[in-house]
Amino acid sequence: MSDRNASDREHWGSRMGFILAAAGSAIGLGNIWRFPYLVGKNGGAAFVVIYLIITVFIGLPVMMAEFAIGRAAQRSPVAAFGAIGAHPFWSLIGWMGTLAGGFFTLSFYNVVGGWTIKYMIESLSVLLPLAADGKSGDFFNAFIGNSYQVVFFQVVFMALTTLIVLGGIGKGIERACKVLMPALFAILIILIFRSVTLPGAEVGINFYLKPDLSKLTGETLLDALGQSFFSLSLGLGIMITYGSYIGREERLPSSAVWTASLDTLIALLAGLAIFPAVFAMGLEPGQGAGLSFVTLPAVFAKMPAGMVFSFLFFMLLFFAAITSSMSLMEVATAFGIEKFKWGRAKTVCVMGVVIVLLGVPSALSLAGAPQIAGKAFFDAVEYLCNNVLLPVGSFLACLFVGWMWLPQACSELTNEGKLAFPWMKAWIWCVRVVAPIAIAYIFVTGLKW
Ligand code: TRP
Repeated sequence: MSDRNASDREHWGSRMGFILAAAGSAIGLGNIWRFPYLVGKNGGAAFVVIYLIITVFIGLPVMMAEFAIGRAAQRSPVAAFGAIGAHPFWSLIGWMGTLAGGFFTLSFYNVVGGWTIKYMIESLSVLLPLAADGKSGDFFNAFIGNSYQVVFFQVVFMALTTLIVLGGIGKGIERACKVLMPALFAILIILIFRSVTLPGAEVGINFYLKPDLSKLTGETLLDALGQSFFSLSLGLGIMITYGSYIGREERLPSSAVWTASLDTLIALLAGLAIFPAVFAMGLEPGQGAGLSFVTLPAVFAKMPAGMVFSFLFFMLLFFAAITSSMSLMEVATAFGIEKFKWGRAKTVCVMGVVIVLLGVPSALSLAGAPQIAGKAFFDAVEYLCNNVLLPVGSFLACLFVGWMWLPQACSELTNEGKLAFPWMKAWIWCVRVVAPIAIAYIFVTGLKW
């Protein structure tokens, strides 16, 4: 996905191929690890409702805007704004996104990516027997308290990402994911069946599906906003890069609707697998980043052939994570190639090392230190990326598309007027007015260290 000229830029073979690739970037740890833990932290169903509203009225329009910029520019995010004749100021979006995504987001993403490898391996040994004794929480805490192990698995995850990006076998991985993602979906459905039939599951179902809007705070809104951007891979220009690979004759709006719907579906299903079990087993919904890793083994322990399911599940989660980390790594790589004029191999290796080093303080901080202003380093970087940089990046993208580049964007979304886009008026309202005001409002009321 490096920056090439419009003429020799590859395009996705088919619309389905493109949607699966964009969904491959979008569907990842954000859906199965981060979404449920934020729902738990923010009191349940009210968060889910807000998340859905934000995704429809802010996330989806921003995704269409990023696709439109990308397809019009046929460039990576840093170069895109120049290519469509925008003032150099707007390249800031690309720069910020490159730093925030290629480096910071990936630096904590690979730590959690490492957990999936650890859990895949442990599924075959002590994980389920411990979980059956109610000790999955102890297991998780012991693991993240063991810095050597956490760093080791982080390095393994990042090394694999680097090798994939280096070997140019990303396409092969994406093809494999066409098979693997439906498998992940199938296991989620089986898990949901097991989870909702556990005695006492109703409390969890109510927690997840019956909103109590009095629980909403500014912080809840900001968490939902940041999570929507994170899960849809927005705000960093990644979807600008993806958009540049969409063929001229494809329909941008429906590609965006498909990508966002698949992503949201997987997140909702993950919650449905997790919360009934959390309550049925007396676990704590607001426990934070460990939620999925503590709850799911306990559900597997209660299933026939649980070991097999657990191994498969964490393997599939690993694949979902690696298709997302590939997309983040591409950003750092494209940046290195453009900026330093290095060869691709050198760039990928250097970036891989830099990103691992950036991630080490996050990995160590799970055991208590280092901290930044009272927050564990891991939480600080995560907060900075998701609750600050992604909203700011998306806000700027809305201003640019809504106020500077609207006629071109409309023409891009309708393929120069050849296609009908019945929601055009609504989309224009969203990117010009609703999204920027909502983002600014939520940002100001919800920002709390
Ligand atoms: N969306 C991915 C997930 O849910 C993570 C991700 C990939 C991402 N690319 C991104 C997040 C770009 C923000 C920006 O796991």
